[in-house]
Amino acid sequence: MLIVLGILLQVAVLSKGFPVNNRPIIGVLAQESFKGAPAATYIPTPYIKWLESAGARVVPVRLFRENDAKAVSYYKNLFGFINGILFPGGGVDILKSQFAKTAMIFYDLAITEKNKCGDLFPIWGTCQGFELISALVSKQNLLTSVDAENLPLPLNFTPEAARSSMFGSLPEDVYKPLKTENVTANYHHWGLTPTNFSQNKDLRSVMKVLSTNTDRNGKEFISSMEAYRYPVYAVQWHPEKNNFVWMAKENIDHDAHAVRVSQYFADFFVAQARKSKHRFPDVPSENQAVINNYHPVFDKKTSLENYFFEFLNETAINI
Ligand SMILES: *[C@@H]1O[C@H](CO)[C@@H](O)[C@H](O)[C@H]1NC(C)=O
Ligand SMILES: *[C@@H]1O[C@H](CO)[C@@H](O)[C@H](O)[C@H]1NC(C)=O
Ligand SMILES: *[C@@H]1O[C@H](CO)[C@@H](O)[C@H](O)[C@H]1NC(C)=O
Repeated sequence: MLIVLGILLQVAVLSKGFPVNNRPIIGVLAQESFKGAPAATYIPTPYIKWLESAGARVVPVRLFRENDAKAVSYYKNLFGFINGILFPGGGVDILKSQFAKTAMIFYDLAITEKNKCGDLFPIWGTCQGFELISALVSKQNLLTSVDAENLPLPLNFTPEAARSSMFGSLPEDVYKPLKTENVTANYHHWGLTPTNFSQNKDLRSVMKVLSTNTDRNGKEFISSMEAYRYPVYAVQWHPEKNNFVWMAKENIDHDAHAVRVSQYFADFFVAQARKSKHRFPDVPSENQAVINNYHPVFDKKTSLENYFFEFLNETAINI
């Protein structure tokens, strides 16, 4: 009886469509800083701008030194307020860092809520974020070293791409450059090979592979994947770089096709976030949490910009 009611309710919700949330607020996860950084953790600005360019606001998901009970309850609250989370690129451990441990809290909440009450919580992983998602699903580090730093490539779509949420309805002016032009910026020395993927039961059952590429030595790695049952998307390439990263000597494609591709995936992910009903209690608490409260630091030498944060502690928690 309950099952029948559940199905009726789902049909009702689906036929009416999701109530659209036109004030999406997306979390971007901080990570432990690189050498010489002015604070303990950071978020690169391009990921923030990429989401904002598609009509979302951004909340920095800051790290605690360790995830004790207070930290976990802080993140649980925050999960109820935001409409998705983005895991950026970078260089920390995908199992042992605070970045990874905090990501696991959000991933577990997203999966549990979806299974319990159909609540959608989209997750996007870029580069290190892709690698992190592979570890969140498999609970292992299955990466292999690859030579794909500063390597712009077109995607080799798998047959599953046509039936996917990420690539299934690409307009021609996005599909063609993605398939034939060097629009995807690769900046990684780790990769997930199709063999390592398919030998892992969890990855195989949760994620579908949408594209692959080969590194400078011909080693194949998975470049895009998404979950079958959850709005979880992972790309080993950097869609935000075409529009927002301007390092002088790098091969980042900034032509109009590449800019269109970058914008398409920002629009795509933010459209998923508009399906989430999570909300901050009120506008003042939104305004207390958003990235607009912080000031980025631009490095003229590297052309890179980052937001830096000290670790959160109990006295700093304001939501
Ligand atoms: C992943 O693949 C590489 C070879 O590409 C292999 O050396 C490594 O052992 C694999 N890792 C796991 C956990 O299967
Ligand atoms: C893409 O880059 C490769 C070198 O990495 C080059 O050989 C190829 O011609 C480029 N393709 C296009 C369409 O520009
Ligand atoms: C806790 O955070 C506040 C606000 O960021 C900071 O001023 C204070 O020094 C921190 N305390 C400790 C013990 O780190």
